[in-house]
Amino acid sequence: MPPKFSNVHTDGDLTQLRELLAGTLEQSGVPLPNGSTKRFRNLLNLACGRADETAVLADVFGQGAENIHLTGVDIRAREIGEAQERWKHLQGNTQADFLVQDASKLSDLRELDNHFDVAFMRHQNFWNGDTTWSKIYDEALHRLDHDGLLVITSYFDREHQLALDAIQGLGAQLVCSQRNHASRVLTDARNKSVDRHVAIFKKP
Ligand SMILES: C[S@@+](CC[C@H](N)C(=O)[O-])C[C@H]1O[C@@H](n2cnc3c(N)ncnc32)[C@H](O)[C@@H]1O
Repeated sequence: MPPKFSNVHTDGDLTQLRELLAGTLEQSGVPLPNGSTKRFRNLLNLACGRADETAVLADVFGQGAENIHLTGVDIRAREIGEAQERWKHLQGNTQADFLVQDASKLSDLRELDNHFDVAFMRHQNFWNGDTTWSKIYDEALHRLDHDGLLVITSYFDREHQLALDAIQGLGAQLVCSQRNHASRVLTDARNKSVDRHVAIFKKP
């Protein structure tokens, strides 16, 4: 069992995220790549930070797969170290690797797979540098299999809209975007809440 989260809100936020992702996927009608018959599912968690959501991603996006491989990347070594420590013992069919890497330069990682089924980005940071984040989305789309999905969540309304525009500008097709009305409001910024929006994109 991974250690308990120290933040009192984390377990509740992850329960909400699980429901949000599973519900949005179901309502969108878009199947996970190759449906439930796919034996191996390959998941990429971009700018993952501590990757608290690792088990949620494996459950929601790994459903039906015999084996799940998850790769988390973030530019910050300390957060990646925490993720490695927390998720070193996952359930039998799930493996996770966490790498210190600039996600706008994924092409530098020769060993990284080019056929991810799902690229996920929780609390993307578009307005913290639109050029970098557009590059991160572009890299993510290039790493997806032909039937792969790009899934993002956002803290802010405006930032979510900027990301929707940028990702569609890169040629991805927006499958659905939803406001999460159950998201927990944060006190450090006006109009900011946990996983406030979710969106799913397909490759063109
Ligand atoms: C708002 S945090 C979200 C972290 C995590 N996904 C979450 O929801 O808790 C944004 C993350 O983007 C990471 N980041 C920023 N620029 C990056 C880059 N070029 N490549 C990889 N990660 C980056 C930061 O280190 C940070 O962990």
